[in-house]
Amino acid sequence: MPQHFDVAPVDATFGAVVTNLKLANLDEPAFRELYATWLEHALLIFPGQFLTREQQIAFARRFGALEFEMAAISNVKSDGTLRREADNDDVVKILKGNMGWHADSTYMPLQAKGAVFSAKVVPSARGETGWADMRAAYDALDAAVRDRVERLSAYHSLHYSQAKAGFQHKDKKSEYSGYGLHDGPVPLRPLVKTHPETGRKSLLIGRHAHNIPGMEPEESERLLDGLVEFACQAPRTYHHSWKPGEAVIWDNRCLLHRAMPWDMTEPRIMWHSRIAGDPASEAAIN
Ligand SMILES: [Fe+2]
Repeated sequence: MPQHFDVAPVDATFGAVVTNLKLANLDEPAFRELYATWLEHALLIFPGQFLTREQQIAFARRFGALEFEMAAISNVKSDGTLRREADNDDVVKILKGNMGWHADSTYMPLQAKGAVFSAKVVPSARGETGWADMRAAYDALDAAVRDRVERLSAYHSLHYSQAKAGFQHKDKKSEYSGYGLHDGPVPLRPLVKTHPETGRKSLLIGRHAHNIPGMEPEESERLLDGLVEFACQAPRTYHHSWKPGEAVIWDNRCLLHRAMPWDMTEPRIMWHSRIAGDPASEAAIN
């Protein structure tokens, strides 16, 4: 039983709502308990936090060095006007591309450890975030498939996933160049990842994964699409409807996530702080 807060698991193989705590002033014993709770549930949801920018960054930093401090995931431009979906600019393309299941920064040399994500402005409907438990998905594979995927790896690329989804980026110097349109060597990662802290195995798949070495591209795509379709099903998924002021932290080493559509004539402003992976366990293998 936790001593410092209350934990109510959601109706899925992972995820919990955590209440009766203030993320902005957790002492060290409370944080240690929270960290252990996070490793167990992989996704923690904190209602009513209303973190300031400084508070969110400071909270994220307690989980490790940051890949980046804070990025707006939003259809509101810096001048306050809305991006039109029909503009189909690079930000709209990334927002829509991220509606496919993925893990963050697998297309970079170092996969992310996790992320703190908070809701500032939410639309009147939709715009949920979904997560899927790749530990439970791995456990649910039948033995023959598990043996097969244990021996396989795949390349991960945001250029690949954006192009496959129909959101090709024309310009390398786009507004979203900082997001990870990575032009270095394409990272190669095993399909089965062992969690560096829990030791649990999980599937490392999602929209950036492609071109399994030793397979024809079509066969590789069929296998990877089939794994995502199998993995991202109840009871291994949870979709969260946001309220302003909510924050979450998820473990990017064992969950996939995706954005859900909303009416882009309504503003949606979310803040994302990304925690860097450990080079000992989250580096690409090539
Ligand atoms: Fe993401």
